[in-house]
This record gives sequence, C-alpha cells and structure tokens, in this order.
Amino acid sequence: MQPEPGEAGRVSRHSKDTNDAAVGEVHEPPLRQTGRDQPVVEAHISPLRHADPDPTVGEAHEPPLRGAKVQRGGGRSASASVDPKVLAAADKRFIWHPFTPMQEWEKGEPLIIEAAKGSYLRDISGRAYLDGVSSLWTNIHGHRRREIDRAILRQVRQVSHSTLLGLANVPSILLAEKLVGIAPPGLSRLFYSDNGSTAVEVALKMAFQYWQQVSPEGRAKTRFISFKNGYHGDTIGAVGVGGISLFHGLYRPLLMDSIQVESAYCYRCPVCNDRMAPPHLEAKGWGDTPQSPRPGGAGLAPTHLDVLVWGHTPRSPQPGGRPSPEPPRSSFPVPLPCENCRLACLNNLEAALKAQHRSVAAVIIEPLVQAAGGMLVSPPGYLSRVRELCTRYRVLMIADEVAVGFGRTGRMFACEHEEIRPDLLCLAKGITGGYLPLAATLATEEVYQAFLGQPHEDRTFFHGHTYTGNPLACAAGLASLEVFDQDRTLERLQGKIVQMERGLRRFWELPHVGDIRQKGFMVGIELVADRSTKAPYPPEVRMGARVALEARPRGAILRPLGDVVVLVPPLSIKKREMDRLLEITYESIAAATGSIP
Ligand SMILES: Cc1ncc(COP(=O)(O)O)c(C=O)c1O
Repeated sequence: MQPEPGEAGRVSRHSKDTNDAAVGEVHEPPLRQTGRDQPVVEAHISPLRHADPDPTVGEAHEPPLRGAKVQRGGGRSASASVDPKVLAAADKRFIWHPFTPMQEWEKGEPLIIEAAKGSYLRDISGRAYLDGVSSLWTNIHGHRRREIDRAILRQVRQVSHSTLLGLANVPSILLAEKLVGIAPPGLSRLFYSDNGSTAVEVALKMAFQYWQQVSPEGRAKTRFISFKNGYHGDTIGAVGVGGISLFHGLYRPLLMDSIQVESAYCYRCPVCNDRMAPPHLEAKGWGDTPQSPRPGGAGLAPTHLDVLVWGHTPRSPQPGGRPSPEPPRSSFPVPLPCENCRLACLNNLEAALKAQHRSVAAVIIEPLVQAAGGMLVSPPGYLSRVRELCTRYRVLMIADEVAVGFGRTGRMFACEHEEIRPDLLCLAKGITGGYLPLAATLATEEVYQAFLGQPHEDRTFFHGHTYTGNPLACAAGLASLEVFDQDRTLERLQGKIVQMERGLRRFWELPHVGDIRQKGFMVGIELVADRSTKAPYPPEVRMGARVALEARPRGAILRPLGDVVVLVPPLSIKKREMDRLLEITYESIAAATGSIP
C-alpha cells in the first residue's frame, strides 16, 4: 500500500507490498474490499488470525455484532460481514472510549481504522490518513514494518505468553540486556510491566521502598515532588504525581500528598513573564527581514526554536535604527527566550527540596518535554540542574521517558541531551515500535541492592502484572531496536528534525499561533484567541479539536492537547510525507481559526 500523500488518499486495497509478502509467508489472505454492501474482512475480529497457520486456532468465539450477518459452520472462524454503519453503531453502543466526552462521541461518526502501512492509517471506507501522532506517540518505524511483523509471528510459533513470576522467558532476557546496554550508564536492572502508568507506579513504589529499606533516616522519605503540567499516567499513583488539573483535580481526595512545583512553561513563564519580542524588534520587522542567515535558512526571524534547537542568539536592533510607528503588516511578535533566564522556575523546586528533603523520596520529571501538558520544552540546562538538586538534597530522580524515549527528541533517550543519569527510568510507548503494550522501569545497582535479603526479611519488591515481560511484546521490542540499527534511524532523523523546524517557521504567519515548541520530533503549536495578550480560546470553542477535525478530510490524523496542536509523526516518516503533514496542519489551523493568511 503506497498511498500518495494527501489526497485523503484512497488506497488500493489490492496492491501487494513487501510486507504483505512477508505476512503471506504464513498464509495471510489479501485484504478484502470493504464497503457498505460487501463483507467486512475478518480483520475486524483479529488481524493475527489471518496469519495463523493452524486453522483450528481462533475458532469462532466472537459474539456476532447485532445486526451483522454472520456465516457459521465449516469455516476456520466465524466470518462476520458487517456493514460499516452497523459497526459504527456497535462502537457507540458498547465502547467507552478513553479521554473522550462520550455524549459528543455518540452524536458523531466514529472513524474506524482497519489497516495501516508505513506512515498511513486506513479507515474502513478505504481512506488513508497520515498518522500525525504516531498512534498516540508509540509508532517508531512505521506501521506493518516487516521485521517487527515477522518477529512477532516467529514468537507466536514459540510461545505467546508465559509468566515472569517465578519463570524466565527468552525474549524478555534478550530485550532487557539490550535496553540496559543503551540506557544512560548506571541503570543496570530492569523491571517489566505493561504500560506507561505501570512503569511509573513501579518507579514510585521502588523509590519509596528503597528508602524504607536503605537506612533508618530514610523511613521518613515518603513523599514525591512533581511538576505542574506534568503527566505520568492514569493509575492512582501516577495521577498522584500528575499536574494537569483537568485530568487530575477531581481525584485529589484519592491521591497521595505529593508536593507540586513550577514547571518550565516558557511561553507563559510564571517567573520571567513576557517572552514576546520587545516593540522595537517588532517595529524592525522581525519576520520580514532576512536577518537569520544560517545553513539553508529561509531568512526568517529567529524564533525561540532557533535558540533552543540551534543555539542561535537573537540580534540586537541596528544602532541608530529608527522604530517605525506601525509595525509592518506581516510582522508578528516572535517569542524569544527570556534573556535573563537563569532557570528561575527551578527556584521553586530548590526551595521545596531545601525545606522538605528529609520527607521526600524522589522527584519525578518528564525530561526535556512535558508532553501531555502541551509539549512544553524545558530550556537548556534545566534537566541537569534538576539532577544536581536531587543529588545535593539526597532524593532519587525518576525520569519518566514514556513519551520522550526511543528517539522522539532526536536522541535515543532525552536524558542523553544533558548527559544525566536518573536513579529510575520509565519506558513504554515506543519500546515495541508501537506494536504491543510493554513497559520497563530501569533502576541503578544501588537501588536494586536495597531490595536484596533473605526471603523472610521481606525486602522483596511485591509488585507484578500478569502479562509482565510478555514474550510477544519483548520480541517486538527486540526487533524494533534492530531496526533502529539497521535503518540508522537516529542518524537519519536529524535531517528530518531540521526539515520540520524549517517547515514550522511559516506557521508564525497564522495570527492565532501563539507559540511553537519543538524538541526533535515532538511539536506543540499553541493556538490562542489573541496573540498580543496570549488569551486562550474559551474552552467550549474546542479549537484544538476543530483543527483535528479539519485535518481529517485533508488526510491526516491529529490529536490535540487542548488548544495545542500536536505533531509527533513516526520517526520513519518520509520527507515528502512530512511536507504534506505540515501543509495539512497549516491549512487546518488556518481553516479552523478562520484566518486565511
Ligand atoms: C510521560 C508519560 N508518562 C506516562 C504515561 C502513561 O502511559 P500509558 O498511557 O501507557 O499508561 C504517558 C502517556 O501519555 C506519558 O506521556
């Protein structure tokens, strides 16, 4: 399937590709035509069933969808032929979707994904969409990557699941060894779980128990410090260190009493306030004048991206330059870094540590980018300063790299940018290349040693999930790491990061773009009702959601964070696909905000 980008592309469902060939090895039938009057493929029931060489496996256990014609008997499985409208009705009838206002959902038409390939998802009507958010920031090498498909299928023929409680399995051992090998040095022990939230729960419990077991004074260390705008998952422990009031506020009575400190939200910096260009710079026509010479640069004004990504220093206005009374029409305020940024937002963390470190077990942080908080990129030096403070005040540092890990920021792990080593590291999302649920919490030897002792001493870490270390997921994880090497994914990514940064500069032309934040392949475009005051849109406008809806008929799936339009494409996205994704995003913002530049 090689759709042309952007035509809200109809894809030939019959075209064979290399991945089909790979799967065909194990007797996968071609995708069948889906349509109102035609049978829906069995893929609605289980895509893996197609790949199953044993016709007795996966006998029909799925109940028929109400209203669907179901053929029974004789076949290797029930073959439900479902009208897309019936399927949509059944979705609305039975499924409670995550993070979804269900009353609104029930009124709309669900977009039902049936298949995918590379950077594209395809719906049941055959329309293709660029996967602009990597299926919730998980996909790395594209969908249906042959090597990962094959690794999973090979593993299915060995064993699909066997517990890690009291037993070991082959792929989990091999993957643990590899992950420890590429993680920041010193993280030598790995504990598996199933998702980002559980990786965080594990880290919190480990940090707590570490202090309980390591020294008598440590027993007082029972609290956590977390950051405003932080997000670490939806289980109760993870919510307890969350900092997004919309998601977390209601649950407060259920939560542990963590200490929340300021985050680095530079656009709305609580300590350095306004980052907009001073009027004299606006009057000089920043944004009009080619005064940003750099390799291949299009001569646009330096943005904060220039400074954060390129280390660019903005120029002062020319001596003697006369500010014109009216800024040129196309001039727009350009966010600048706080000239006096001394990471003052971290004073709050320091004060909290100074006052309360004796009762604090750990600081938990999303390194470099607070992702769900709106893709808030922290300034250079911020992460290493947090590390210094944790060391100085003897608290553990938990780096939650669930979102930023596996290349999203341009390095394999975000901690590498500032060469810091956390005491605990949480990984999930991209760990399997976006294929299967898996997570890992890595710990230092020092943390691990505190859990050793005779069984009766009860120093054991009493935590474990049923599917912990699942062999299929670990096989996918191993294959994904191999593809990183084989494709030189991180090396190739660098050019695409620059392409993305250049493509985003044009977005400043759109009057409702308040801020653009980028770190590697993680982008947040914050939309505001009024750029001069940074006034947000009223929540009921749901501007971010409107942009995402505009993007669909144009051929891209976006999922905003409030009014922050998010771009997190697969690392494997092709350059022309990236151009198209940027174009669609630009057009969608223009259309939704009613601003045709
Ligand atoms: C930084 C971070 N931590 C934890 C999580 C929770 O991961 P999951 O949704 O897999 O539980 C997320 C999810 O977006 C995340 O961004």
